[in-house]
Amino acid sequence: MVATKGLALRSPGHTFPKAPPMPKILVRSAQPVKETADVIALATFQGAAQGGKKKPGRTPLDGFDRALGGALSKLTKKEDFRGKKDQTLSLQTLGKVKADRLIVYGLGDAANVTEGDVRAFAAKAARAANAEKAKRLVIGLPAGLEDHLRAVVEGIELGAYRFTKYLTGDRKPKAELAQVTITLTGDVPREAKRTVDAGQAIAAGVILARDLSNEPPNELYPEALAAAAKAMAAEKGLKCQVFDFKEVQKRGMKLLEAVGQGSLRKPHFVHLSHVPASAGSGTRKRLVFVGKGITFDSGGISIKPAAGMGEMKHDMSGAANVVGLMAIVGALKPDVEVHGIFAAAENMPDGAAYRPRDIFGTLDGKTVAINNTDAQGRRILADALAYARTLQPDLLVDNATLTGACVVALGNTCTGWYANSESAAADFAAAAKGTGETMWRMPLLEELKDQLKSDCADLKHTGDRWGGSISAALFLREFIGDTKNWVHADIAGPAMADRASGWASKGGTGHAVLTFFRLVENSLG
Ligand code: BES
Ligand code: MN
Repeated sequence: MVATKGLALRSPGHTFPKAPPMPKILVRSAQPVKETADVIALATFQGAAQGGKKKPGRTPLDGFDRALGGALSKLTKKEDFRGKKDQTLSLQTLGKVKADRLIVYGLGDAANVTEGDVRAFAAKAARAANAEKAKRLVIGLPAGLEDHLRAVVEGIELGAYRFTKYLTGDRKPKAELAQVTITLTGDVPREAKRTVDAGQAIAAGVILARDLSNEPPNELYPEALAAAAKAMAAEKGLKCQVFDFKEVQKRGMKLLEAVGQGSLRKPHFVHLSHVPASAGSGTRKRLVFVGKGITFDSGGISIKPAAGMGEMKHDMSGAANVVGLMAIVGALKPDVEVHGIFAAAENMPDGAAYRPRDIFGTLDGKTVAINNTDAQGRRILADALAYARTLQPDLLVDNATLTGACVVALGNTCTGWYANSESAAADFAAAAKGTGETMWRMPLLEELKDQLKSDCADLKHTGDRWGGSISAALFLREFIGDTKNWVHADIAGPAMADRASGWASKGGTGHAVLTFFRLVENSLG
């Protein structure tokens, strides 16, 4: 072990710089043209945006063309704006309405609009408001989108998100979006307030996942990630067990211990739980989510090339998603038993680091031979899954920035997921489809299993380069015991983004949190 003298190891439980508060959201029945704001953003269906032409029924665009002296119909014609999906129209109002800028977003055919389309629209509007340094935004919804109010709220908060807390002076944003008014053409539904609260709680969970993912690795090391989970649990009234390094060793999480042994920042293991009061009635489902929490992945002794290594600060995004999900569960307290588990370690090379050809036992009892220290995620997950399965979940879901191979297969916006039963697959597919997060099922090809055979140990943890995402999934499957419904989600591509798109932010995205919470909601009663 290298000398620790002179190295300031921060004490546990320290807090990160505070982020600005999320914008407040109001819902009103109103005509946007009469509203005061910095930016007004309107959604319109294909065929509904005819500028000056009179259409039956109220639309959010009503009155704008006249107020703007015909400029809206002129621009609509000039730009051939028809309200097609992803078409936008943006104009300065020059003081003719009580907002500086009007933006109209096409949603496409009303019959085909999905929850994801609506969330993306609201996020784009919030991002545009940020770009305009707006403090107040009005979002006008056409009739028919009231049912998607929660997605609009989520979109606003997720689109407004920026990771700016480490910026000072001139680099700090000049303005923060403080208030957003959503206008409806018809009456405000009675449950609107609850819907807004739920949307904000869900967005706050995704944002917590993003913040954790974006924290620099010198600030967010295993113990700090555990402390962040603990602080969240205390705030939300969830149970939180933290196993420090001693406990990790005592319990025999040998693979987790091995991965972290080259770092001064020792591995930690966290178990968050939400168990509703009358648990045990027999009908309530028990869902267990597991995340990979590598706070920095240098590759270890099998060190990564310098280019792109910095991206590996996001290698704890699976764990961040678990914390974000549990924050939502803690806020909304659904009548479902939900557990959130993660293993956290830093993968570093040093004199104490583990090496290729080492053999370790596992919590499960199986022995594993190491052949590449950069394939560390599956090892800490092996111990985490072996722990998680003892809770006897109805559904066990793990998520991890696991393999570059998955990004090669599906690109960097799509999660690749695997399921060991058609029932788990159907549930997971329905949740993903419902939220609109991009996810694609991958096959657990049995013929690749031979790749995990080792001469000296029960298992080898990596296979060939080809099918690398599949062999990683097959390795994980070795540790789920007799769990009937298991899903493994490889989020290596979409967990981080080099630019904002849809409702995803640049940097850590919190991708998969929405789908995980939908799984929880869909298993209610
Ligand atoms: N953290 C990486 C996977 C990753 C790659 C995440 C790209 C996000 C973007 C993981 O720990 C890793 O290093 N995987 C190796 C496995 C290989 C050595 C078998 C990989 O994918 O190259
Ligand atoms: Mn790695």
